[in-house]
Amino acid sequence: MNHFLDIHKTDPADLHRMISEAKRIKTARKGLPKGTPDAEAVLANHMVALIFEKPSTRTRVSFDVGVRQMGGQTMVLSGSDMQLGHGETIADTARVLSRYVDLIMIRTFEESTLLEMAEHATVPVINGLTNRTHPCQIMADVLTYEEHHGSIRDKKVVWLGDGNNVVASLIHAAGQFGFDITISAPETLQPEAGFVAWAREKGVNVELESNPQKAVEGADLVVTDTWVSMHDSQTTKERRHNQLRAYQVDDALMAHAKPDALFMHCLPAHRGEEVTSSVMDGPQSVIWDEAENRLHAQKAVMRWCLGK
Ligand code: CP
Ligand code: NVA
Repeated sequence: MNHFLDIHKTDPADLHRMISEAKRIKTARKGLPKGTPDAEAVLANHMVALIFEKPSTRTRVSFDVGVRQMGGQTMVLSGSDMQLGHGETIADTARVLSRYVDLIMIRTFEESTLLEMAEHATVPVINGLTNRTHPCQIMADVLTYEEHHGSIRDKKVVWLGDGNNVVASLIHAAGQFGFDITISAPETLQPEAGFVAWAREKGVNVELESNPQKAVEGADLVVTDTWVSMHDSQTTKERRHNQLRAYQVDDALMAHAKPDALFMHCLPAHRGEEVTSSVMDGPQSVIWDEAENRLHAQKAVMRWCLGK
């Protein structure tokens, strides 16, 4: 049984196979109405629980549609609807859910909730975002890069802004897919040192460059995300905005990257804050492909989890 908990915990050969599989799955469906089932109903007779303790548009809809296209059924549960957090342990919840469903996807706050779920579930568990990482997003990002510009190996990927859960998974992907990563963030909002150390041990060229213009120099891919994540207290909003304003991705900053550099954002975006509308809607932006690719990448992840 394969849990998909994090990119650095997943075998690189399996990750590469998932990306190839996602490309194949996407090509096979080109032009079909979204409700058309995939040719192979690999999740026929399978029930999938999608648990959300935080809001979601993309993760919720892409998993739901993906499971249905693969012939399975879904049950979307919010944390507050369940007994989660009302005294029943995560371990007991995992044991019970495993008797009803074949696969569990969970978006939660503390990573310990995900890990406890995986430890006690007897069906595969997928990380749909925690405060620390967001691996499904980065699988979609690798797929998106590769469909536009070929292999991501040895490319220069630059992250601007908050050192959050999304860049954590991007750092893990740098280690497993072999690309260079430069992170430009204020001193107090750097990614966890342990993630950077892990990647450096894997031989990744990780640069921490506080000057955004210097960071972006020669970039093949520029990535950013919201300045205030769902788990961040709203009381830190103003301080974060003040600290992060200099890291906004605008046309002037993109001009320091390679002329054919791509721009990505996991979305939801705050136009005029971490990125300008002109970059989001500009020719280098691949954000809508990136969002679509959640669907295809996660299908490959689910197949891998179920050994299909
Ligand atoms: N990118 C992403 O995970 O979006 P949602 O929060 O809408 O799921
Ligand atoms: N960093 C963001 C990602 C949302 C998909 C958050 O955790 O809120």
